[in-house]
Amino acid sequence: MLILGIESSCDETGVALVEGGAHAIPQLLSHALYSQIAMHQAYGGVVPELASRDHIRRVIPLTREVMSESHKTLSDVDVVAYTRGPGLAGALLVGAGVACALGASLQKPVIGVHHLEGHLLSPFLSADPPEFPFVALLVSGGHTQLMRVDSVGHYILLGETIDDAAGEAFDKSAKLLGLGYPGGPALSKLAESGDPTAFKLPRPLLHSGNLDFSFAGLKTAVMTQAKKLGDSIDQRKADLAASTEAAIVEVLLKKSLTALQDTGLNRLVVAGGVGANRHLRAQLNAACAWRGVRVHYPELHLCTDNGAMIAMAAAMRLQVQPALAQKNYGFDVKPRWPLADLS
Ligand code: KG4
Ligand code: ZN
Repeated sequence: MLILGIESSCDETGVALVEGGAHAIPQLLSHALYSQIAMHQAYGGVVPELASRDHIRRVIPLTREVMSESHKTLSDVDVVAYTRGPGLAGALLVGAGVACALGASLQKPVIGVHHLEGHLLSPFLSADPPEFPFVALLVSGGHTQLMRVDSVGHYILLGETIDDAAGEAFDKSAKLLGLGYPGGPALSKLAESGDPTAFKLPRPLLHSGNLDFSFAGLKTAVMTQAKKLGDSIDQRKADLAASTEAAIVEVLLKKSLTALQDTGLNRLVVAGGVGANRHLRAQLNAACAWRGVRVHYPELHLCTDNGAMIAMAAAMRLQVQPALAQKNYGFDVKPRWPLADLS
């Protein structure tokens, strides 16, 4: 079964083709991605209206690219999947509209996918896919959650951020340091030449006794320190970047370990854009190896938003709930959509 996946929830247009079957792990045939980062950089963040318009420009050429790379034609597609939410309403509508129009013209069923379920299942596209059950650390630009994942569609929320997401903490801190958008990769790069112990920054909710996160206080502390730095020399900025990264990573690490301990599970899946962070990966790998816990990540290039994870999530969903794909082309999107609602 060939599944075409379309992602357009934020600032990346992604299209992919996945081959799914009744039981085996679905395989990625090809994927294409267009990142709008350069366009939004001038504004210091995503401009929703510009994002929607750019998705319109990109989605059809990307679809053609994916079809030709995999030597398939649109008539070979069995199901069209799209990101139904959460995300920017206008941006989601582009992917949903194109997917439903394609489905209607091909007379093939369509399926709306939860963006975070896409991230969550994206490690199944890697050479070392996980097995159920596992603890998932979902760390993206808009979400920071720990979930217990028993099987496809069975997600129990263990804890989440009560304010900013981890990616947001990276992005906002990077902005305060005068780095570009999106800030995570830039801050992480600068941190490489800094001293992570140079600044004493708060580790919010580290000892809260639950699995919730809070990063707003950290951002305020970074702001105070960044103001003091002013136009000071680069080394101090690198030190502040390294200290910020260390604070975020320590909280993510400790809470993940607590979640593993609480659930008694010995498998951790890390997904979402922040999962690309090298320092986070190194710390998690070391701590988990010591505890006999296996850690799984998506391939580095599939950590941030992409169409492959949407096609993959659709394929895995359809293995357990084939009736989900329907010839119902009256689409609606869900800009706000808790992942636990899927269970
Ligand atoms: O999952 P994603 O592509 O989009 C959302 O669904 O939100 O995640 C984007 C987030 C941004 O906040 C970005 O700064 C962060 O992931 N990010 C990183 C790194 N690469 C991306 N944060 C820290 N280190 C990185 N290497
Ligand atoms: Zn995402």
